[in-house]
Amino acid sequence: MSSPYDSIAELYDPWSVSVVEDVAFYLQEARRSGGPVVELGVGTGRIAVPIAAEGIRVIGIDSSRAMLDVCARRAALAGVEVDLRRGDLRTPPVRERVPLVICPFRSLLHMHTNDDRRAVLAAVRELLQPGGRFAFDVFTPGAEDIAQTQDRWLEREPGIFELAHWDETARTLTLTVRGPNGETTMALAWLSVDEWRALLEQAGFAVEACYGWFDRTPFKGQDDSVWIARTE
Ligand SMILES: C[S@@+](CC[C@H](N)C(=O)[O-])C[C@H]1O[C@@H](n2cnc3c(N)ncnc32)[C@H](O)[C@@H]1O
Repeated sequence: MSSPYDSIAELYDPWSVSVVEDVAFYLQEARRSGGPVVELGVGTGRIAVPIAAEGIRVIGIDSSRAMLDVCARRAALAGVEVDLRRGDLRTPPVRERVPLVICPFRSLLHMHTNDDRRAVLAAVRELLQPGGRFAFDVFTPGAEDIAQTQDRWLEREPGIFELAHWDETARTLTLTVRGPNGETTMALAWLSVDEWRALLEQAGFAVEACYGWFDRTPFKGQDDSVWIARTE
């Protein structure tokens, strides 16, 4: 199982250092659930480690061995344990049943077909206890965002550059990230908010909330959408 994240595992934390707005949101949901929490696409533990630091058990799934290695290091530095397991979002290697599954920072955009998305949602339902919640965020780029970034190298953080190529017909973003200690190109696929809602409902979830940002302001056409779905 190779992953486009393997070659940027050491770059990921400096690349995402400014992304902090979602941590408190997922932490609140974890506290509300009481745990344990399954994080799909745990990455380097940006969200999982703060949750574990609250004494809440986290099971983190990721397909990138290198990202999991960085996560284990980060957890050790913080003096916490995260139960890390290598696996796919569609077939997470988890037998436990939990009150909360999270999939932060747009990781669902790694799913390119509705079959893949449905497989993730079915897996999440399987993992959840009755009445359990699935919290995640995705984005649906606006015309302005596309126009400002299309095919231009932009310095996201000092010495770390991104190149976005948007295909509005296929609704895919091909993103190249380049830094002093790594480079990768990955493909992401987006849907409209209505399409996400329909997929959730078809999978047997009730949409409890769809926010436009992590401060829980209602969704009103923003690029980001932040979801809480409940098993019925
Ligand atoms: C944008 S990062 C998010 C990491 C972390 N959740 C965060 O908020 O910083 C996406 C993560 O999903 C993982 N990922 C991508 N496709 C995956 C798949 N099919 N199965 C499991 N993990 C996957 C990547 O390896 C990466 O660590």
